Amino acid sequence: MKRIVILISGRGSNMEAIVQRCAEQSWPAQVVAVIANRPEAGGLAWAAAQGIATTAVDHKAYAAREAFDEALAEAIDTHRPDLVVLAGFMRVLGSDFVQHYAGRLFNIHPSLLPAFAGLHTHRRALAAGCKAVGATVHFVTTELDHGPIVMQAVVPVRPGDDEAVLAARVLATEHVIYPLSVRWFVEGKLKVDGGLVVQSDGASQVLL
Ligand code: GAR
Repeated sequence: MKRIVILISGRGSNMEAIVQRCAEQSWPAQVVAVIANRPEAGGLAWAAAQGIATTAVDHKAYAAREAFDEALAEAIDTHRPDLVVLAGFMRVLGSDFVQHYAGRLFNIHPSLLPAFAGLHTHRRALAAGCKAVGATVHFVTTELDHGPIVMQAVVPVRPGDDEAVLAARVLATEHVIYPLSVRWFVEGKLKVDGGLVVQSDGASQVLL
């Protein structure tokens, strides 16, 4: 059984989707802990109600980023994870942290990377007049919102869309591609070669 630790900052709807698919589809894996950098993160209560271990490592309690990263890594490593999943985790992690989890750290970003790395992706995509946007699951590397791409979802922009409408349309696709990406990882179906990710069954890595 592969051991998954999920990091959240807020409501944790992607975390919920992963926990649910893992149980429904009997993955060879278990979500062993959900950890938040905000004690008030809504997803913690949901995870605890499922019987999953929950912890808050409050970033406000640490003056230096490195000290927070170290405390977070300690909380994570207690659970001996095979995969650490950033699911709406809104803190930038330092390079020591990222290197410690190299090859076993996933993130989801609500844009078609490498477009619109960083914050306010939907606002920036609307301002740019994009006709399609999306979401990306990727392995985390030391460069923010970069790293080998596991899967992307493409979402149309419709006339009259505002940020909230677009975010909701993208989020619905995140709930499909993130669980599937995690499933492929725990089933050993992802190979990274030269910074590119291949799914060994030849399954489509894009949701259109
Ligand atoms: C998701 O849209 C995720 O892509 C985004 O935060 C939201 C979290 O929702 N992540 C980022 O912007 C990371 N830079 P959730 O808490 O309901 O899963």
